[in-house]
Amino acid sequence: MRILIVGATGTIGRAVTAALAGRHEVLRAGRRSGELTVDATDPASVQAMYEKAGPLDAVIMTAGGAHVGPLGEMTAEQFRVGLNDKLMGQVNMVLAGQRYLRDGGSFTLTSGVISEHPIKHGVALMATNRAIEGFAQAAACELPRGQRINVVSPGVLTESMEIYGPYFPGTEPVPAARVALRYELSVEGVETGKIYKIW
Ligand SMILES: NC(=O)c1ccc[n+]([C@@H]2O[C@H](COP(=O)([O-])OP(=O)(O)OC[C@H]3O[C@@H](n4cnc5c(N)ncnc54)[C@H](OP(=O)(O)O)[C@@H]3O)[C@@H](O)[C@H]2O)c1
Repeated sequence: MRILIVGATGTIGRAVTAALAGRHEVLRAGRRSGELTVDATDPASVQAMYEKAGPLDAVIMTAGGAHVGPLGEMTAEQFRVGLNDKLMGQVNMVLAGQRYLRDGGSFTLTSGVISEHPIKHGVALMATNRAIEGFAQAAACELPRGQRINVVSPGVLTESMEIYGPYFPGTEPVPAARVALRYELSVEGVETGKIYKIW
C-alpha cells in the first residue's frame, strides 16, 4: 500500500512509521518535516499536499494539539485551539482526502484516552477528542467507494511520560510500539467506524 502519515516525525508517528515502512510505501508529512510539508489546519495546504502525494491507499493522522488549562480561566480563544488544530486538522485531511484516496482506502485519526477519562485542566482536549470520534463514526456511514475510517485512542505513551506523566496519576503508560499496532489494524484490517482504544 501507499500510506501517508501526517505527523510522522512525532512520538506516535515515528512508531507507526516504523511499524508500517517494512511492508508498505510510507510518505511522511509534517509542518516542517517529512517528504511532504503540510499545515493540516489550512485547507489550501492540505489540497496542495494531496496533489503532490499522488494515489494513496491509506491516510494516517497523528498530529494536533489542544489547550490544557483550568476551566475557570479559559477563554473562548483558548478553547478554540483544539477545534482549529486537532479537530479541523484531522477533519481537513478527510474532507479533501476522500476525493484522492483509492477505492477501499482508509483514514485513521487520533483521539486519546482523555475522550473518556477527564484529566485536570483537560476540558478542551476532552471535547476535541470526542468531536474527532463523533466525526469519524458518522463519516464511516458516508465515505464513498468503500473507503473506511477509524480512530485510534491511545493512553499516555511511555515515551511521553516525562512531559505528560503528572497529568495522569495512577495510569499505566503504553509503549508507542503497542499503540502503533492499532494503526496497523486500522490500515490493514477491514473494519470501519471503530474507536480502537489502547490504554
Ligand atoms: N503522546 C501521547 O502520550 C499521546 C497520548 C494520546 C494521544 N496523543 C495524541 O496523538 C497525537 C500525536 O501526539 P505525539 O505526542 O506523537 O505528538 P508530537 O510528538 O508533538 O508530534 C506531532 C507531529 O505532528 C506534526 N504536526 C503538528 N501540527 C501539524 C499541522 N498543523 N500540520 C501537519 N503536521 C503537524 C508535527 O510535525 P512538525 O514537527 O514538522 O510540525 C509532528 O510530526 C496528538 O494529537 C496527541 O494529542 C498523544
